[in-house]
Amino acid sequence: MSKKPCYILGIESSCDETSAAVLKDDRVLSNIIANQEIHKKFNGVVPELASREHQKNIIPVVIEALNKASIEKKDINAIAYTFGPGLLGSLLVGSSFAKSLSIGLKIPIIAVNHMQAHLLCHFIDQNIEKPDFPFIGVTLSGGHTQIIIVKNFFDMKLIGSTLDDAIGEAYDKCGRLMGLDYPSGPLIDKLSKNGDNSRFKFPLPKVDGLNVSYSGVKTSFLNFLSKKSKPFIEENLVDLCASIQSTLNKIIINKIVLATQKFNLKTVVIGGGVACNSNLRNELLNLSIKKEIKVHLPIKEYTTDNAAMIGIVGYLKFKEKIFSTISQEVKSKLTF
Ligand code: KG4
Ligand code: ZN
Repeated sequence: MSKKPCYILGIESSCDETSAAVLKDDRVLSNIIANQEIHKKFNGVVPELASREHQKNIIPVVIEALNKASIEKKDINAIAYTFGPGLLGSLLVGSSFAKSLSIGLKIPIIAVNHMQAHLLCHFIDQNIEKPDFPFIGVTLSGGHTQIIIVKNFFDMKLIGSTLDDAIGEAYDKCGRLMGLDYPSGPLIDKLSKNGDNSRFKFPLPKVDGLNVSYSGVKTSFLNFLSKKSKPFIEENLVDLCASIQSTLNKIIINKIVLATQKFNLKTVVIGGGVACNSNLRNELLNLSIKKEIKVHLPIKEYTTDNAAMIGIVGYLKFKEKIFSTISQEVKSKLTF
């Protein structure tokens, strides 16, 4: 007799993407993401506007996810939602929705740590090799830059993180200094493809151990640009992008190498929005050949915030019967 499938509805609302996904066991049937364009004109996410946008988007996004998966509400076995870290107002929209729907449908809810989900998206069934435990996990997003020892799905220990700005934040701030729109990471990536990354040199920070720092390089970029004219920046934009991109990536790549040596681990798993960056992906693949390290890069759909990654954690917890209660609070800060 074949096993009854398990349908998980995943909900993500920690920052400025409202997303809903349906998973049948570890397979993604739908992954709908509504981006919030409103923040572009403010050059960054405005928390109050983000929660209002989530309120507008959440129901249509969930309905679309169910339709695309060709299932009905009554078919869902459990609802997984992000309970942190993130913007409190944004998290509250997803968590209140998830809790209300679970009460209405009389099904369990599963609270998911967003950063764990960025790493565990690699366990979605997608016809690519899944990582072997233990491994070095690296989260690279707009709010976090973390190096983690991952012993098992839910046994994670932080061994390094940024002392100031996150790598995605550094991309966005450096982009802004060059007059690029928010979020600048994807634009820097695109423009760099036609640029020379050795044209401008910026100093790498000296930080001991596995921590990193991004504020110093951002300041040296600011100081460099403040001595240049607007036409200079426009004429040299692609070289400036390629040079700063390569510096920002080198900082974390050096620490990834150090972590593999220090803990004698040969598997590295990357997650988060910056994992989309083409130069970073190429450099990590070169590294895997040179240093004989197995590097797992997420497919692009699962790099930036999405509910499929929340759904897979929901499925993994569902199998272990790790459920949450209605009194689970949302957390703006959350470690492992
Ligand atoms: O993981 P994510 O979607 O949201 C957070 O949890 O923060 O990451 C968003 C960050 C932004 O800072 C954005 O600029 C950056 O990821 N990002 C990129 C690229 N795509 C997104 N940075 C560099 N290159 C990219 N291709
Ligand atoms: Zn994220």
